[in-house]
Amino acid sequence: MRFLLISDTHIGNPCPGYHPQTPLDDPEPLFKALGTLIRQRGVDFICHAGDIIDNGSREQMRIAAEIFRTLPCPTFAVPGNHDLMFPESAKWMTEELPELFPCGTTDYYLIRDGIRFDFLTSNWNEKPAFWDGVSLDSNFQQKQYAVLEDGPQDLPRILITHSPACGVPVKQSGLKQIFHAPPMTFEKDIFRLAKEKNISLILCGHNHLNLSVKKSGIKAVTVSALREMPFEFKFFEIANGKLSMSTCSLSEMTGIRLPYDFNKTYIQGRICDRAFDCRFRKISF
Ligand SMILES: [Fe+2]
Repeated sequence: MRFLLISDTHIGNPCPGYHPQTPLDDPEPLFKALGTLIRQRGVDFICHAGDIIDNGSREQMRIAAEIFRTLPCPTFAVPGNHDLMFPESAKWMTEELPELFPCGTTDYYLIRDGIRFDFLTSNWNEKPAFWDGVSLDSNFQQKQYAVLEDGPQDLPRILITHSPACGVPVKQSGLKQIFHAPPMTFEKDIFRLAKEKNISLILCGHNHLNLSVKKSGIKAVTVSALREMPFEFKFFEIANGKLSMSTCSLSEMTGIRLPYDFNKTYIQGRICDRAFDCRFRKISF
C-alpha cells in the first residue's frame, strides 16, 4: 500500500499569515505534478492533514473540490484551523468536499489493506470545530473519542490530525527554545490516546515543517506546507510488515523555484526528519 501525506495547501487567495517559506500563488501546477507522481508511483490515496483552504468559506471549498477532483487517486482529510473559520465550516466541508470526508463527518476512520486510519479534528478552543482566528489551544473533546472506540480495535493504527503532537526540538531548529509546540495538555493527551489505542504513527501538519520524532515508541510526523517552496510531501509505503517514509519535492518535478529563506532550513528538517524505515505490524520504531 502506498499513500501520500500532504498538508497546508491553503487553497484560495490571497494567503497571508504564517508562511515560513514562500508560497506559490497558483497551486494548479503543483497538483498537476502531484497527479503525474501518483500515476508513476502507483499511489493508492492521499491523507491531507488540514488547512486545505485558507479562510473556511464555501467558495474556497468549491475551488478546492475542483482541484482535488483532478487527482487520479482519492484524498482523505481532516480540517485544519484555517478550514474552520465559520461556525458552520465543518458541515460545509462535508457538503462541498464529500470525497475528502467519505463518512460525511470530520471525525472518522477508514480501513485500508488491514490498517486503520483514524482522522480526528483538532479543536482550537472550547468550541468544537471552530477557529476564531486567534486561539491556538489545540485539543480533542471527549465525544470525539467515540470514533476511536468504534469498529475494530486490533488493527495497526495511524492517527491523522492537524495540530502537531509536539514541538520542534532545539536540536532541529537551532533556536533557543522548542518551536511551534502545542499546549502541553494536547501533547499529553495525544500520546496517551496513541498508547491506549495502539496507534503507532501520528501524522500532522499546521507547523509547515518536516519533523519526525519518537516518544514512548510512538512516531510523530509533521509535513511542510505543500504550497510553500520547495513544495514537499511525504511518500509512505507499507509492505510485508514494514513501513517506509520519504520526503519528496515538487520543485524538482515542476522546475518552479521561488525565493527560499536559508535562515530557516530547519523547515525542511534533518535527514532523520525526512525519511525512516521501520517494522510496522509489530510496532517498533
Ligand atoms: Fe494550521
